[in-house]
Amino acid sequence: MIQNPLRFFAHLADSQGLRAHLKLGSRNFYLINEPELIRDMLITQGAAFEKFPRIERTKGLFGEGLLTSEDPTHLRQRRLMQPAFQRERIAGYGRIMTRCTQTLMADWRDGQELEATEAMSRLTLEIVARSLFTTEAGDKAATIAHELEIVLKMLNQLVMPWGPLLLDLPLPASRRYRAALAKLDEIVYGVIDARLASGEERDDLLGMLLSARDADTGERMDRLQIRDEVMTIFVAGHETAANALAWTLYLLATNPDARTEMEAEISRVVGDRPPGPEDFPNLAYCQRVFSESMRMFPPVWILGRRALAPYVYGDFSAPKGSILLVCMAVLHRRAEFFPDPDRFWPDRWLEPTAPKFAYLPFGGGGRLCIGERYAWMEGVLCLANLAQRFRMELTAGNKVEPLGMLTLRPKNGLRVRLIARGE
Ligand code: HEM
Repeated sequence: MIQNPLRFFAHLADSQGLRAHLKLGSRNFYLINEPELIRDMLITQGAAFEKFPRIERTKGLFGEGLLTSEDPTHLRQRRLMQPAFQRERIAGYGRIMTRCTQTLMADWRDGQELEATEAMSRLTLEIVARSLFTTEAGDKAATIAHELEIVLKMLNQLVMPWGPLLLDLPLPASRRYRAALAKLDEIVYGVIDARLASGEERDDLLGMLLSARDADTGERMDRLQIRDEVMTIFVAGHETAANALAWTLYLLATNPDARTEMEAEISRVVGDRPPGPEDFPNLAYCQRVFSESMRMFPPVWILGRRALAPYVYGDFSAPKGSILLVCMAVLHRRAEFFPDPDRFWPDRWLEPTAPKFAYLPFGGGGRLCIGERYAWMEGVLCLANLAQRFRMELTAGNKVEPLGMLTLRPKNGLRVRLIARGE
C-alpha cells in the first residue's frame, strides 16, 4: 500500500467489489466504489462524518483554512468565501489566465524541450497569485513559488505515517520547512497589512476576503483567518490545476486525433486572437477533453471521511470511527460506469451515461471544491491558449506513470518537445 497505493486500491476493488473492507490495526477502512453510497456519505449523511486524515500536522501551513477546518468554523468560512468564487467573478480571473498563459509562451521556441509539469506548476501559481493579489503579485510570485515548493515537499512527507516525527527531529528538511513557512507568512502578512493600512478596496480575491461579512452577524475575518485562507487557496488552487493541465497535455500528445479535433474547434470558435473567458461556453470539445483527462487522472485521487457515529446505509454498516475512502483514480476507471475505461475518449461526455457520483474530480457535498468553476475556466483557457500556438510531443525514453502523493502527478515528470504551429 505504501509503495504503490494506486495499484493497491485498484486490486482491492477488483478482488472485493464495490464495498471493499480492510482492517489496519484496530481501524476499519472501507473502499467505496458505489455511487449511491458515495452520495449518501458525502451529502445525505455528510454531517455524520469528518474529514480524514484530519490534516493537523499540516496546519502549520493551512491553519484553520477552508481545506482543514471543521464545523462550525468551516461552515462560517464557506459562507464568507463563496461570493469570491461565484460565476460573475470567474470571467475576471479568466482574463488573468489568458494573460499568464500568453506570457509563459512568449519565451517558447519551436523544437525546444520542456519539463511540462514544472511549466504548468509555474503557470498555475502565477495565475493564483495574480487572482489573489492583482498588483502586488508581480515581484513576489517567484519567491512564493520557491518557498511553496519546499513546503509542499515536506507536506508530502507529513501526511505519511512517520510524518509527525519529522518536525520533532532537527533535520535540515524540517529546518528548511520552518524557514520557508516563515518567509511565506512574511510575504502574505506584508500584503494583507499594506492593504489594510491603505484602506484601498481592490477587486481581487484578497479584496473579497478582506471585505467579506457574515450575513447574520456582520462579522469579518480576522488577520490570521485571512492568512490561513490565502495559504489554502495558494496550495489548493495551484498543485491540483497544474497536474490537471500536465495530464491533459500528456493525453493530447499521445492521442493525435483528439488533439486535431481540439485545434479545429479553437480555430473555428476563436480564430487567431488569444482565447478568453467569453469563449469558454463555445469551447465544448476542450471542455470534454478536460473532463476526460480528470476522469483518467484525477488530480485529487482519493478522499476520506471518518464516521463520527455508527454508519448505516441500506444493508451496509460501519462502526463509529471507521474510515470510508473514495479513490477517484480507481472509481473513474470502473468499466461498469465507463466502458473501455482506459481509452481516452472525450466524446463519451457528449451523452454521459455514468451515474452522477461515479465521477467526482471535485469531491461533493458540503466540502465540494470551492474552486470548481475557477478550475474549469483555468483548464479550458490554458489548454486552448497553449494548443492554439504549440503542439507537444513526448521526448524519447520519458516513461510516464502516475504517482499518488498529495495529488496525482506524473512520477518521472513530463518531458516534451515543442512544435510551433503555423511555422
Ligand atoms: C483541477 C483543479 C482542482 C481539482 C481537481 C480540485 C479538487 C478538489 C477536491 C476533490 C476537493 C474536496 C476534497 C475533500 O472533500 O476531501 C477540493 C476542495 C477544495 N478546493 Fe479544489 N480542486 C481544484 C482546483 C481548485 C482551485 C483552483 C481552488 C481555489 C482557487 C481550489 C480550492 C479548494 C478549496 C479551498 C477546497 C476546500 C473546500 C471545503 O472543504 O469547503 N481548488 N478540491
